[in-house]
Amino acid sequence: MTPDTKLMSTITLAPMEGVVDYLLRELLTEAGGIDLCVTEFIRITDYQLPTQTFHRYCPELKHGCRTRSGTPVHIQLLGNSPERLAFNAVKVTELGALGIDLNFGCPSKTVNRHNGGAALLQYTGLLYDIVSAVREAVPDTIPVTAKMRLGYLDSELAIANAKAIEQAGAASLVVHARTKLQGYKPPAHWQELVAIREAINIPLIANGDIFSVEDALKCREVSGCNDIMVGRGVLRNPDLPAAIASNIQNDDPDAQWQRSLALIKRFTEKVAQVPEDPEQEHPYLITDPRRYLDGRLKQWLSMMGKSSVQARQLFEQVKQQTSIQDISNIIQEAG
Ligand SMILES: Cc1cc2nc3c(=O)[nH]c(=O)nc-3n(C[C@H](O)[C@H](O)[C@H](O)COP(=O)(O)O)c2cc1C
Repeated sequence: MTPDTKLMSTITLAPMEGVVDYLLRELLTEAGGIDLCVTEFIRITDYQLPTQTFHRYCPELKHGCRTRSGTPVHIQLLGNSPERLAFNAVKVTELGALGIDLNFGCPSKTVNRHNGGAALLQYTGLLYDIVSAVREAVPDTIPVTAKMRLGYLDSELAIANAKAIEQAGAASLVVHARTKLQGYKPPAHWQELVAIREAINIPLIANGDIFSVEDALKCREVSGCNDIMVGRGVLRNPDLPAAIASNIQNDDPDAQWQRSLALIKRFTEKVAQVPEDPEQEHPYLITDPRRYLDGRLKQWLSMMGKSSVQARQLFEQVKQQTSIQDISNIIQEAG
C-alpha cells in the first residue's frame, strides 16, 4: 500500500484531558476541517458510572453526540478491566454515544501505576480482551476504536499490539508515534508507523507532532497513513485542520492571531455566562467556571504561546490572575 496523492482523508481532533472539552470542541469544530472529535478520557474503575459523569465529559450526548456544527464525538474510556469497560460502554451507548474509543496511550504516572493507559501496552493479551469485550457488548453499529503509543518502554510489541487490537474487532487504530518512555520528546517517529500500517487491515491514523500543513504532508509521506489525528497543533493554531484539509497554508501570523484571539474571547464570554441560580445548569460548563478560566484557558494560551508571541504575552498577563472577572477583563481588552 502506498499513500495516494489526494488530500488527507480524515482529520480527528485529539483527545486532550484538562483542555479539550465541550466548549473547545464546539469552538474548534466551527473553524472547519475536523471530521471527528474524541472526549477527554473517562476513567473506569467501577461498574456503571452515573449518567451525570458521562454527560459532564460529553454534554453532546444530549444533542445526538455531535458538536453544534455537526461533528461527531466519540467517547474515550480508560481502564484495565474488560468487564467494567464493556459495562460502561453499553451504558454510554444507551445514552447516545456514536463510537467508543479505548485509551492505551496515557503516560500519566497515576494512571500507569494502576495499570491503565500506556501501561497496558505491555500486555497484548489484555488489550485483546478489553477490545473484544467492548466490541461484543455494544451494538454492531457502534464503532469501537483504540488509541495507543508505539509501546511502553520500547516499541517491540507495537505490531503484536496493533494486530491484537484489530483481531479483537477494532474499527480503526490511532498510534501516537512515540513510546510512553519518550513522553512528548520530539520528534515523533512517523517512520515506525509504516510496519504497523502494513501489518493490519483497519485504518491506521497517524498522530504526533503535526503542527503545520507541511508536517501533515510529511507525516503522510513518511508513514503512508492518509488519516491523521492532531492535538497540540490545533490548540496552537485553530485554523490548522481547515488549512490541512484544503492544503492551503495560511502564512500571515497576525491575521491568524486575530482569529485565534476572537476564539479565545468567545471562549471567555461563554464561560462568563454563569447562571444566577447555582442549581441551574450552565449551558456549557458543569464544573466551577473558575476552573475553566484559571485552568483550561491558561493551559490553552500557554500551548498557543509555543508558536505565537502575542499568545505568550497574553498568557503572561493572565498567569498570576485567579479572579474570573480580572481574567475576563484582560482577555476582552486584548487587541
Ligand atoms: C494536555 C494533554 C492531554 C491529553 N489527554 C489525552 C487523553 O485524554 N486521551 C488520549 O488518548 N490522549 C491524550 N493526550 C495525547 C494526545 O491525544 C496526542 O496523542 C498527543 O498530544 C500527540 O499528538 P499532538 O502532537 O498532535 O498533540 C493528551 C495530550 C496532551 C498534551
